[in-house]
Amino acid sequence: MEEIEVLIDEEEIGLKVREMAKVIAREHKDEKEIYFVTVLEGARTFSDDLIKEVMALGGFKVKNYLVKVGSYGGGSESSGKIEVKKGLVEDVCGKELIIVEDIVDTGLTLCFLKEYLLKEKNAGSVKICSFLDKPSRRKVDVNVDYVGYVVPDKFVVGYGLDYGGRYRELPYVGVIKG
Ligand code: IMP
Ligand code: MG
Repeated sequence: MEEIEVLIDEEEIGLKVREMAKVIAREHKDEKEIYFVTVLEGARTFSDDLIKEVMALGGFKVKNYLVKVGSYGGGSESSGKIEVKKGLVEDVCGKELIIVEDIVDTGLTLCFLKEYLLKEKNAGSVKICSFLDKPSRRKVDVNVDYVGYVVPDKFVVGYGLDYGGRYRELPYVGVIKG
């Protein structure tokens, strides 16, 4: 197995996720329910932890919708043409949604998903919560409401993020050396 340089360790991840959950809970304390939209597969690990932390704070009803978005034909680089691979069957009309994503890279995926939720699904509003942000690679402007860490222009793996289907289960975020 390739050597991996640790960028963000397990303890730091835990603290950050708890902090993000607190901010979201504080900003949504007057809502009856918090509606998350998790972008599969990469964001699943972060989303599970984040939602657990929100629920641990108590007093919140939570719904987590799952969507799958990808570029045509797959590949690790966004081709620029994004499609919904598994859409929402549930009715989110008028709801205030929070997209949960692993990383914002070019921004194309989130830009597309936001449009889909607002225009096709008639969501009331859409916020974005991403564990990682790689702003140096941005191709389209996208406002990220909640960010865990800003990372340098390197391909990162672990904590849900994969490289060719591997490394998702690493408990830390790292960069493959070499
Ligand atoms: P976008 O370029 O912002 O559309 O990002 C598309 C998707 O590419 C993200 O949701 C990730 O799943 C994936 N991705 C982007 N950068 C990385 C990376 O450094 N490691 C692993 N996956 C990445
Ligand atoms: Mg993703």
